[in-house]
Amino acid sequence: MNSDALLSLRHISVEFDGFKAINDVTTDVAPNTIHFFIGPNGAGKTTLLDVICGKTRPSAGDVTCDGVGSLLKLKEYEIVKKGICRKFQTPSTFVNLSVYDNMRISLNRDKSVFGSILARKRYMDTKKIHEVLHLVGLDEKSKERAKSLSHGEKQWLEIAMLLVQEPKLLLLDEPVAGMGGRETEKTANILESIKDRCAVAVVEHDMEFMKSIADSVTVMHEGAVLVEGSATDVMKNEKVQEVYLGRGEANA
Ligand SMILES: Nc1ncnc2c1ncn2[C@@H]1O[C@H](COP(=O)(O)OP(=O)(O)O)[C@@H](O)[C@H]1O
Ligand SMILES: [Mg+2]
Repeated sequence: MNSDALLSLRHISVEFDGFKAINDVTTDVAPNTIHFFIGPNGAGKTTLLDVICGKTRPSAGDVTCDGVGSLLKLKEYEIVKKGICRKFQTPSTFVNLSVYDNMRISLNRDKSVFGSILARKRYMDTKKIHEVLHLVGLDEKSKERAKSLSHGEKQWLEIAMLLVQEPKLLLLDEPVAGMGGRETEKTANILESIKDRCAVAVVEHDMEFMKSIADSVTVMHEGAVLVEGSATDVMKNEKVQEVYLGRGEANA
């Protein structure tokens, strides 16, 4: 494991009925960085996130997290408890509850109900919830029901619900899908502003979004790592232009 890494993937392979969706992937995510996984459809990006969060078990290789060791022996909920939190593409808010109550439930997940009735704890929880809601720009909407939020605001609420659990690593699969330019820009600002709290691993198609905030990029193609580097470096790379950018331009 690279001694500076927060998360290390070593020689990860995933097979589905003999089909290699991931083929010998080795990469690292450094602490307090935004790391992108990009690549054409079917490249294996989502499967890689599934491996990190324990949803899919690799047929070979190891995933280790600094201070935790191998994640492969842990169950999904245990990985979450170690601070590796995934935002799924499917919504996971309680639509009829307020923004604040969604946050409260997320914060007190797995905690004893006795703890949550103590005044001191309630005070600290309230402070923390408002602080995180402020960070994602939803503090003024804390009393609104989740269902009244715009598409972008719902995504930010879900990010806030993970942040309030103080993760080490946040995993986001296509966080700006369905967002307009302004919402995408705001999401970029939010991710930039949470880097000092946790690392963020993002799977994304939107190259402009990637370019604006990526500290490091892994380009995947057919289950393998094609190239890694800064956003500028990978976008200049010929192999990347061939499999990814070239294809994008051909479709434009
Ligand atoms: N549960 C599964 N069973 C069989 N094949 C799968 C499964 N999940 C993903 N795949 C296949 O693995 C490949 C990688 O998929 P995925 O990780 O979703 O790619 P990406 O997110 O990069 O678009 C694709 O060819 C996909 O069809
Ligand atoms: Mg995907």
